[in-house]
Amino acid sequence: MPSSTPKHLEFLKRSTRALRGGGQKAIERQIAMGKLTARDRITAILDTSSFHEYDLFVEHRCKDFDMDKKVLPGDGVITGTGTLSGQGVCIYAQDFTVAGGSLGLMHARKITKIMDHAIKMGLPIIGINDSGGARIQEGVDSLAGYGEIFYRNTKASGVVPQISVILGPCAGGAVYSPALTDFVFVVDQISKMFITGPEVIKTVLGEDISMEDLGGARVHTEISGNAHFFARNELECFHQIKKLMTFLPGNNTKRPIPQAPAPPKAKYNVEQIIPAEPSKPYDVRDIIKAVCDNSDFFEIQQRWAANIVIGFARLNGETIGIVGNQPLVLAGVLDVDSSDKAARFIRFCNAFSIPLVTFVDLPGYLPGVDQEHAGVIRHGAKILYAYSEATVPKTTVILRKAYGGGYIAMCSRHLRADFVFAWPTAEIAVMGPEGAANIIFRNEIAAAPDPVAMRKQKVVEYTEKFANPYVAAAAGHIDAVILPADTRKFLLHAIQISKQKTESRPRKKHGIPPF
Ligand code: HXC
Repeated sequence: MPSSTPKHLEFLKRSTRALRGGGQKAIERQIAMGKLTARDRITAILDTSSFHEYDLFVEHRCKDFDMDKKVLPGDGVITGTGTLSGQGVCIYAQDFTVAGGSLGLMHARKITKIMDHAIKMGLPIIGINDSGGARIQEGVDSLAGYGEIFYRNTKASGVVPQISVILGPCAGGAVYSPALTDFVFVVDQISKMFITGPEVIKTVLGEDISMEDLGGARVHTEISGNAHFFARNELECFHQIKKLMTFLPGNNTKRPIPQAPAPPKAKYNVEQIIPAEPSKPYDVRDIIKAVCDNSDFFEIQQRWAANIVIGFARLNGETIGIVGNQPLVLAGVLDVDSSDKAARFIRFCNAFSIPLVTFVDLPGYLPGVDQEHAGVIRHGAKILYAYSEATVPKTTVILRKAYGGGYIAMCSRHLRADFVFAWPTAEIAVMGPEGAANIIFRNEIAAAPDPVAMRKQKVVEYTEKFANPYVAAAAGHIDAVILPADTRKFLLHAIQISKQKTESRPRKKHGIPPF
C-alpha cells in the first residue's frame, strides 16, 4: 500500500496517537519519578527489535463519570510477545501515564489474552506492574478483571514461569497477581506494594507511615519476603530478569538451555572453607561457588530468611536448584521463614524438572516461644512436604551438622534423596553432643564427685560415638563419605546419571500441603 493513501495515513494517525500513551506531560512526570515508560521498559528487557505489540487500538467501554469523553490509549497497558536471549516470551506493561495504569475491563482483557497465549504456547509470562489498582470508575468490571488474572496466574502456575516486575504502585487487590507468580522483582524507591495504603492506615489505625516504609522494595525483600530480587534501578532490575531467564525452561515440558560447561574459579577452595572448630560459622555460598560451573551462583531472596540460601547454578552446563543452610545466620537453623522460602523454591524446581542439590549444616529447627506461636510446626512441615513430593533428581551433601528434625528435613534419604553424600566432618545425630550428654547422662553427671569433668567426658563419649558420618553410613542412610575435594566430581556424576530418572507417586487430584 503506498504510504500516501488515505488508509495508510489514517493508520499512521491512529497508531501515533495510541503510541503517545498518556501524552508528553504525563511521560515527563513518569521520567521525573525516576521511571522509564512502559514501552521503554519492554524494549529494555527484550531482545532488540523483537517486541510485537497487540491490541494497541483496544478502547475502554465505560460510560460512567464522563468516561465516554476520555480516550485512554491502549487502555493503559501494553501487551505483546517477543524474545529474550532468543527464547519466546509473553509480556505486558501497565502504562501509568494513562489513567495511572488503572485496571479496567478492557485493560484486564488485554492482560488475560496474553496470558492465555502464554499458556497455550508454553511461553514464560513477564508482567510489569505500575498501576493505581482497580479503575474506580469501572466498578465491579475492574474487580472481575483482577479475578480473571488471578485465575490465569493459578492455571499457569507450574506450566510456564511467571515473573512479576513491580515498577511503581501495585496497590490493593492488585498485589495478588504478583503474589501468585514465581518471581517478583522490585526496585529501590520505585516499587510500592501494599494491600491498604497509608491513607487507609491513618484513618483506621491512626498511624502515620510512608509508602516506602509500608511497602517499598526493601520492605518486601528484607521483611515480608514477598519479593525475590532487589535492584537499585530499573536497568539493574532488567539485567537480573535476563539472567534469571537463562536458568529457566520455557515451560514444564522443556529443559533449560544448557550453557557451555566451565570449572569453578580457582579462588574458591572447597577444602578450606569449613573451619576446624565445629561451632565456627562460614559462608555456605563459598562452598556452592567452589563446586558449581564458573562459580556462578544466582541467589534468590538473598536479603530475607538468610539462614537458608536458595538459587540457581549450573553443573556441567545444566541448571540445578540449590538449597543450603547458611551457618553465618542463626547457625543455619530452619524456622518459619526459611522453611517457607526453601519449600516454595523446591516446588518451583520440581514443577520445572530442575534437579535439586542440597547442602546441609544445621543444628535443627529454631526453638522458642516466638517460633512456636508463629506456627513453626505448620511452616516447618512445608519443607518436608516439598522435598517428599519432589521427583526431580535430588542430591544431598551433608557438610557438618545434621541434627534431629533438621537432618530429616534437609532432603534426607528418608524423604527420597537419590544420593546422600557426607563429608568426614559430618555429624549426624538426634542433637548436638552438649545437649545430648546433658539429657541422657543427667544422673551420672549429677552423682559424680566432679560433675563438670564428668560432663566433659560424657560429651566426648557421645561425640566419638555419634558426631560423625559413619553410624549413618553403616545403616545405609548415606551412600558415600566423600572428601570435600571430590564433591564436584560426585555431583556431576549424580546429575549425569539421574537424567532419565523416573519416580511416581500414588494417583491423586492433588496433595494438601501445609499452606
Ligand atoms: C482510576 C486512577 C486510579 C484508580 C490513579 N488514577 N489510580 N484512576 N482508578 N484506581 C488516576 C488519577 O486519577 C490520575 O488521573 C492519574 O491516575 C495519576 O494518579 P495520581 O494520583 O495523580 O498519581 P500519584 O500522585 O503518583 O499517586 C499514585 C497513587 C494514587 C498512589 C497510585 O493515584 C492512588 O492512591 N490511587 C488510588 C489507589 C487505590 O486506592 N486503588 C484502588 C485499590 S482497590 P489524572 O486524570 O488526574 O491524570 C483495588 C481493588 C482490587 O485495587 C481488588 C482486586 C481483588
